[in-house]
Amino acid sequence: MDTVVSGIRSTGHLHLGNYFGALRNFVRMQEENNCYFFIADYHSLTTHPDPSILHDNVKNILCEYLASGIDPEKATIYVQSDVPETVELYLLLNMHAYLGELSKTVSFKEKARKQPENVNAGLLTYPTLMAADILIHNADKVPVGKDQEQHLELTRRFARRFNGMYGQEYFKEAAAYNFGEDLIKIPGLDGSGKMGKSEGNCVYLCEDPKLIQKKVMRALTDQGPTEPNSVKPDYIENLFTLMKVVSTPDTLEYFNEKWNTCEIRYGDMKKQLAADIINFTTPIRERYLDICNNEEYLRKVTKMGAEKARESAAKTIKDVRLLMGIRPF
Ligand code: TRP
Repeated sequence: MDTVVSGIRSTGHLHLGNYFGALRNFVRMQEENNCYFFIADYHSLTTHPDPSILHDNVKNILCEYLASGIDPEKATIYVQSDVPETVELYLLLNMHAYLGELSKTVSFKEKARKQPENVNAGLLTYPTLMAADILIHNADKVPVGKDQEQHLELTRRFARRFNGMYGQEYFKEAAAYNFGEDLIKIPGLDGSGKMGKSEGNCVYLCEDPKLIQKKVMRALTDQGPTEPNSVKPDYIENLFTLMKVVSTPDTLEYFNEKWNTCEIRYGDMKKQLAADIINFTTPIRERYLDICNNEEYLRKVTKMGAEKARESAAKTIKDVRLLMGIRPF
């Protein structure tokens, strides 16, 4: 059985892109693997979020994980900051992480450009913390999107370096797990290729149906095609891509046909798309609302998750300390 580790930063609510890009696959993976799914609250601190919203952000993602079908009996679901062993491994790995390699990562350069007034050490060592998340459970597979490949490459490099340095094949080299064909990139509603929080083009997983309706109806369209069977512009293709994940094949086929014969009415298509998104998200939203109100359940889940995660993490830290020569008297 493979060990799988993945996390999502707690910076706000999850959107359809997160769901189809990651969550849905986490739910599948928990059946056949030893999974650790966590909420990366330490990673969210690089941008100095207001303390009054930090906890709510963690809670929202936790509830969205659970509402999407991640089962705390099958997978280990935990909050990163509940596992202090991760922080110790982060410190130890940092001794072998070099300024040159850390400052060269795309994510660091991008963040440094976006927040030049706050280029902190946490930002620089973001990849070491991520490596610690992964290596603390000695993962085989890490389900992440393309944007995380460079971080994973660094994780493998740190693992090799550690193994070489301390003379034992201790850490595995974790592989990115991309789900092959299944990885659907969800486009934004603004005609751009990717749904993203910072792009402001999202439909959130647990969003109010009225808002979903409003957002979809406002999505960019045009006058419609004038030539039969013409190629769709990106912003139209995006609507079809969304339809593909939430609507029935018949519905998709119907609007495709209308496009091909130049009879498409975008108002109708968007109404249908909004209805199908609402249909798809409603059970998730209802579970989310229930779970959010059940503090006792959340306490139970996070306690159990922290215990299971710490058990695995403590074993790693014990070994790593000994390998590095940190020994008790
Ligand atoms: N860096 C990841 C992201 O921004 C989140 C993350 C943190 C993560 N630690 C991880 C993902 C460990 C996988 C494994 O999406």
